[in-house]
Amino acid sequence: MSILVCGGAGYIGSHFVRMLCDQGDDVVVADALFTGHREAVDPRATFYPINIADEVALRELFEAHDLQAVVHFAAYSQVGESMKKPLDYFENNVAATLTLLQVMRDFQIPHLVFSSTAAVYGDPGNEDLTEKTPPRPMNPYGESKLAMERMIHWMAEATGMTYMSMRYFNVAGAWPDGTLGEDHRPETHIIPIAVNASLKSRPFTIFGSDYPTPDGTCVRDYVHVMDLVAAHLLALSALQKGAASSIYNLGSGSGYSNGAIVRAVEEVTGVPFPVTYGPRRPGDPARLVAVSQKIRQELGWTPQYESLRAIIESAVRWHRAHPEGYSD
Ligand SMILES: NC(=O)c1ccc[n+]([C@@H]2O[C@H](COP(=O)([O-])OP(=O)(O)OC[C@H]3O[C@@H](n4cnc5c(N)ncnc54)[C@H](O)[C@@H]3O)[C@@H](O)[C@H]2O)c1
Repeated sequence: MSILVCGGAGYIGSHFVRMLCDQGDDVVVADALFTGHREAVDPRATFYPINIADEVALRELFEAHDLQAVVHFAAYSQVGESMKKPLDYFENNVAATLTLLQVMRDFQIPHLVFSSTAAVYGDPGNEDLTEKTPPRPMNPYGESKLAMERMIHWMAEATGMTYMSMRYFNVAGAWPDGTLGEDHRPETHIIPIAVNASLKSRPFTIFGSDYPTPDGTCVRDYVHVMDLVAAHLLALSALQKGAASSIYNLGSGSGYSNGAIVRAVEEVTGVPFPVTYGPRRPGDPARLVAVSQKIRQELGWTPQYESLRAIIESAVRWHRAHPEGYSD
């Protein structure tokens, strides 16, 4: 019996695939390599370089493996790009997931773990976000993820499949020994951009300095990629033991401003760097901070790398070991 990981060549998916392989699971990866890297895929996994919207290719994969569950990371995920190309997001996120779900239904795959996002909440003001906070996405990316969540919910109601939708806050950090890490091209996430500004003198801009936050810059909640993928292992195992479908926030519960991230990166690298301030980016809320009590209580999730420093140290280790990122 095998587990299919869609998007397993991406930043988060590649960490999850390695963790699954380490615990001895048989892993199949489907990834079109739009943003992921072949080099990041654990050699113990069976790799299919396919788009999950390609129904014929997907059916062949499902025929070839005895799949017990799917973990679905594959998506476009840049807020700014989604504001400019909304239909690309509905096509690659919603329509491709529809195809995946149709094939899962036909092959009667019993469980799904899905990468959702804090972007489904929109702009909650100063409120900390629980899973009961009404979702009100304010960009096409968040809207596409909410549509995927709803599609999964109704399919599960009809078929008896069980699922867990994981609403991630800002994921950061790297495999602790620096052998896997974050390499989005272009990179839009603040921690890798700040690390590169510090280590490689790259330019660094903070978008918006007039938000209603203590230092005027956006506040976000950071979760270590290792803690995040560990939560997916817990979700998979709970589903396999008969747990009901659920939605979980995955964050640390602490909010850090962009200004605080700059200071923390400078502290870890020991190399200060200049900061430019630009205008706010459309679709960016002032503050997103999670309440993640539900997954702690129900699945026993206990993050191991909760401090911002631990997250940044692992990111710096990856960037120092891979100054040019992955080779592909
Ligand atoms: N990184 C974060 O902070 C964060 C936060 C919230 C949610 N998420 C979600 O987590 C998931 C993974 O994020 P990531 O940072 O690892 O992104 P990523 O871009 O590194 O990984 C996504 C992977 O999916 C693949 N992919 C995309 N569309 C595909 C398709 N149609 N068929 C096959 N493969 C496809 C890409 O090639 C890539 O390897 C995404 O769904 C994203 O929306 C990420």
